[in-house]
Amino acid sequence: MRSAPLPATERGDLSHIAYGFMASKALFAALEIDLFSLLADGPRNVTTLSATTRIPPNRLRTLLHALAALGLLVTEGPCYRNAPASQRYLVRGAPGDFGEYFRLQVARQIYPALLHLDVGLAGTGSAFDTLGGLMSEPAEARTFTAAQHAGSLAAARVLARRVPLGAAERLLDVGGGSGAFSIALCEANPGLRATVLDFPAVVDVARDYRDASGLNARIDLRAADAVHDPWPGGQDVVVMSYLLSALGECQIDTVLRKAHARLAPGGLLLVHDFMLDDIGPGPALAALWFLQYLAYRSDGVSFSAAGLSDRLRGAGFAPAPAEVLIPEITKVVLARKVSR
Ligand SMILES: C[S@@+](CC[C@H](N)C(=O)[O-])C[C@H]1O[C@@H](n2cnc3c(N)ncnc32)[C@H](O)[C@@H]1O
Repeated sequence: MRSAPLPATERGDLSHIAYGFMASKALFAALEIDLFSLLADGPRNVTTLSATTRIPPNRLRTLLHALAALGLLVTEGPCYRNAPASQRYLVRGAPGDFGEYFRLQVARQIYPALLHLDVGLAGTGSAFDTLGGLMSEPAEARTFTAAQHAGSLAAARVLARRVPLGAAERLLDVGGGSGAFSIALCEANPGLRATVLDFPAVVDVARDYRDASGLNARIDLRAADAVHDPWPGGQDVVVMSYLLSALGECQIDTVLRKAHARLAPGGLLLVHDFMLDDIGPGPALAALWFLQYLAYRSDGVSFSAAGLSDRLRGAGFAPAPAEVLIPEITKVVLARKVSR
C-alpha cells in the first residue's frame, strides 16, 4: 500500500483491493499451522511439510503456491523457504516476531469484526460494543492483549530509546494493555515507576507480562475505566498508546483533560496512535485502522497529528511536531503540560 495515494487507473488496481482479503487469509492460515516456524531452519518440500502439519499434500500445495505467489515464501526447486520478511517477523521466537499479533488479534478478532462494517457505517449494529465490550470477556481480553503485546513491545522499545524521560519518576500508562510501553520505558529509565491502567480483565493479563519482565517492584496495575474512573495523580509522564483511536470523540477530550489534571507542572503527555497525514488522505494503513473501529463503535473519529495537536492545545498542552513510529501506520506526539 502507498502512502501518497495515486488514483486507481487499471482494473488490476481494483482487483488488488477487492481480493486483498484472500491474501490476508492465506497469511493467517499459514500462521495457524505455524508454517513459517517450520521453515525457520531452511527449505522443506511438500512431503515433509505435509507429514509435520498433517495437511494432505494437495491442500497444502495450494496454500504454498498462494504464499509463494504473494512473496511470503520463495521456491527453491521442489522446496519452499521463508522470504526474508517472513523469516524475520513471522517465525516464533525470532527477535522481530509479531506473527501472534496477526494471528490472534488481526485474524481472529478484527477480521471477523469487519463483517459488521456495513451495519456500523449505517449505525444499525456493531460487532461488539466498543473495545470495553470485547474486554469484558476474559478470554477475548486475553487473546487481544497477548496479541497486542506481540505487536507493541518492539515499537515501545524503539520509542523508549528515542524519548529520554530524564528525571521522571512516575508514569501512568492509560489503556496500557499488556503494559508493553511501561515495561519498555521502565527498562530504559531505571528511576521510573509506572502504573498500567486498563479494564479488569486486561489488567489480569498485564500481570503476567509484568511478572515475566521482572519489573514487579516498579510497575503497578490499576483496573479502571479510563473515561469514568479516577486516575492516580502526581504523574511526571502520561502515556496513551492506541487509546484515543479506541474512544468516542467526546471521550478523547475527557481523557486529555484528565491527563492534564493528573500531570505535575511541566509533565509530559506521550500520545502514540494511528494518525492520518495532515494534508491529503493517506497513509492508507492508518486510514484503514480508523475505519475498522466503525465496526464496533459509532462515535469514533479519525484524526491527523495536526487535528490532535489542536485538541491538545485546547486541553492545556504544548504539543511538539509529530514523529513517525511505525511507518505508514502510527505517529507519536509529545506534549508538555502548560500551567494554567
Ligand atoms: C489497542 S490496545 C493498546 C494497548 C497498549 N496501550 C499498547 O499500545 O500496547 C487499546 C487498549 O486500550 C484499552 N482501553 C480502551 N478503552 C478504555 C477505557 N475506557 N478504559 C481503560 N482502558 C481502555 C483497551 O482495553 C486496550 O487494552
